Amino acid sequence: MGILQGKRILVTGVLTDASIAFSVAKLAQEEGATVVLTGFGRLSLVERIAKRLPETPPVIELDVQNTEHLDTLADRVGEHVGGLDGVVHSIGFAPQSALGGNFLNTTWEDVATALHISTYSYKSLAVACLPLMKEGGAVVGLDFDASKAWPVYDWMGVAKAGLESCNRYLARDLAKQNIRVNLVAAGPLRTMAAKSIPGFKEFEDSWPERAPLGWDLSDTVPAAKACVALMSDWFPATTGEIVHVDGGAHAIGA
Ligand SMILES: NC(=O)c1ccc[n+]([C@@H]2O[C@H](COP(=O)([O-])OP(=O)(O)OC[C@H]3O[C@@H](n4cnc5c(N)ncnc54)[C@H](O)[C@@H]3O)[C@@H](O)[C@H]2O)c1
Repeated sequence: MGILQGKRILVTGVLTDASIAFSVAKLAQEEGATVVLTGFGRLSLVERIAKRLPETPPVIELDVQNTEHLDTLADRVGEHVGGLDGVVHSIGFAPQSALGGNFLNTTWEDVATALHISTYSYKSLAVACLPLMKEGGAVVGLDFDASKAWPVYDWMGVAKAGLESCNRYLARDLAKQNIRVNLVAAGPLRTMAAKSIPGFKEFEDSWPERAPLGWDLSDTVPAAKACVALMSDWFPATTGEIVHVDGGAHAIGA
């Protein structure tokens, strides 16, 4: 019996089969969960990728900047599952001007887009799913360690710092509904989101050396395993936490 046996999980953020969310959905199914995906933009692409999962899940449209999508999310997910035990936030975006060493010149409009999609949406998604989480459950988000200023990560770093704070406030406010809220801070992985960061190679070159356990830039499974574990019954007293899945790099001085 898998650790998510009988659980119903909503997974956002599948774009390609290199997406962290793809690994989460795959492992969740392998561990016994019923999975529903949300997709952004070209849904036919997400549907095609979804067919590569062990069981093809339904794909529901969700643009986290679209209020109508959020307001109707619970009803639309409810057409496929009677409730939710877990929700995965695997969503991030920043305009090009907010990345790559342009920190001092980025406009508020571009910063606002980054914060709306990468930070505020953590709260929006959790709240949109509440009608389906009457029996409690777990929310998990994907983080990149925001305790330091990194090369090139710029306003996405600020967005992730906000995400870490949002994680603590959600943990505070959703605990009374027996919902745990945690982040997985992954090391750098070669996904579409990562490729869109100018200068991402700097992370690629240094991380495997810095990480005492080593680090495989193409392997999303360790981060996905942590997401699945956090949604299981094996973290019953953990909320507001950030679990680092980065080969140990965060613990080591440069
Ligand atoms: N790749 C890395 O190095 C890395 C490391 C740590 C954390 N993360 C985080 O993991 C998460 C997933 O990213 P990934 O690396 O798997 O890349 P990815 O490109 O596969 O996934 C990013 C997802 O965000 C979605 N998205 C963008 N704008 C959206 C919107 N308005 N509404 C709904 N969805 C939207 C995209 O459709 C895509 O599915 C992100 O939060 C990212 O910051 C990534």
